[in-house]
Amino acid sequence: MTTSQQQRPGKPGTGTSTDDPAAAEAVYLDATRQLLEPLGVRDGDVVVDVGPGAGSATLALARAVGERGRVYAVDLDHAMLEATLAVAESAGVADRIRPVCHDIEDGVPPLPERADAVWSSWCVHHARDWDAAARALLGLLRPGGVLCLAEGGLPARCLPWDTGIGRPGLEIRLDEAHDRHFTQWFFGRPGARRPARGWAEILTGAGLSEVTAFTALVDIPAPLNAEVRAVVLAELAARVRRAGPFLTPDDAAAWAELLDPGAPAWLGHRADLTLLTARTGFRGRRPQR
Ligand SMILES: C[S@@+](CC[C@H](N)C(=O)[O-])C[C@H]1O[C@@H](n2cnc3c(N)ncnc32)[C@H](O)[C@@H]1O
Repeated sequence: MTTSQQQRPGKPGTGTSTDDPAAAEAVYLDATRQLLEPLGVRDGDVVVDVGPGAGSATLALARAVGERGRVYAVDLDHAMLEATLAVAESAGVADRIRPVCHDIEDGVPPLPERADAVWSSWCVHHARDWDAAARALLGLLRPGGVLCLAEGGLPARCLPWDTGIGRPGLEIRLDEAHDRHFTQWFFGRPGARRPARGWAEILTGAGLSEVTAFTALVDIPAPLNAEVRAVVLAELAARVRRAGPFLTPDDAAAWAELLDPGAPAWLGHRADLTLLTARTGFRGRRPQR
């Protein structure tokens, strides 16, 4: 990272769902790799990862572009850029990474060259205006370049329908409460613009052609190993924390028990936790002219 970039504080993250994004990214890495494939990254390509988080996709892209290629990592949160660089350094590919501190809500990131491919996963939905953010991503591409946007998919299923604590269907009601939280957070910001359509339409409206969608299944059955279990517990705790104001008192009490490592009902004691979810990617191409 250059000195001028180090001196830029960036903005506080609006992003990762747990305190250990690297652990979560490791669990989803197979799905991420599947979603990266349609980008068709080749040796020597110039690629951008917008919202790299802990950098697992950036690293995969850095390996794909080889020694002659470059990967720009664009994030508003300086800590994410540092994490990404640290991962690349331990893998010996940091010289292929160019960190750029930029908020995509401020428009097209100021890169010195156009990209062959742009990847962005679980970032754009943080922006107040998804159409404007999609146009900012499109602006990074050379004519004929390819964009893959990973957004949407399905919420995770980790618990049995009946945990024996509280009423059955706890996780389904958590999804609903979390969605109400997201809606309140999204529209609580001045300038938030209702998207009113799906991601494929948003990309097409931004000017991409040949837009297609594809989904990667994440299917990790019980019993979970220690690493996956820790991520599942951290993600559930984070969802419950955010959804808290929208949970009924009995559901909040059930979650408090299930997420308390000191309680006999702690989810960490269970052998029936799973991780079943789906991640969707949308691929489109910048027209030649
Ligand atoms: C949920 S994390 C996703 C990380 C990773 N791409 C993944 O799929 O796991 C969101 C990332 O986008 C970044 N981000 C959120 N809003 C942004 C914005 N407006 N401009 C640039 N980066 C942003 C966050 O700092 C974080 O690194």
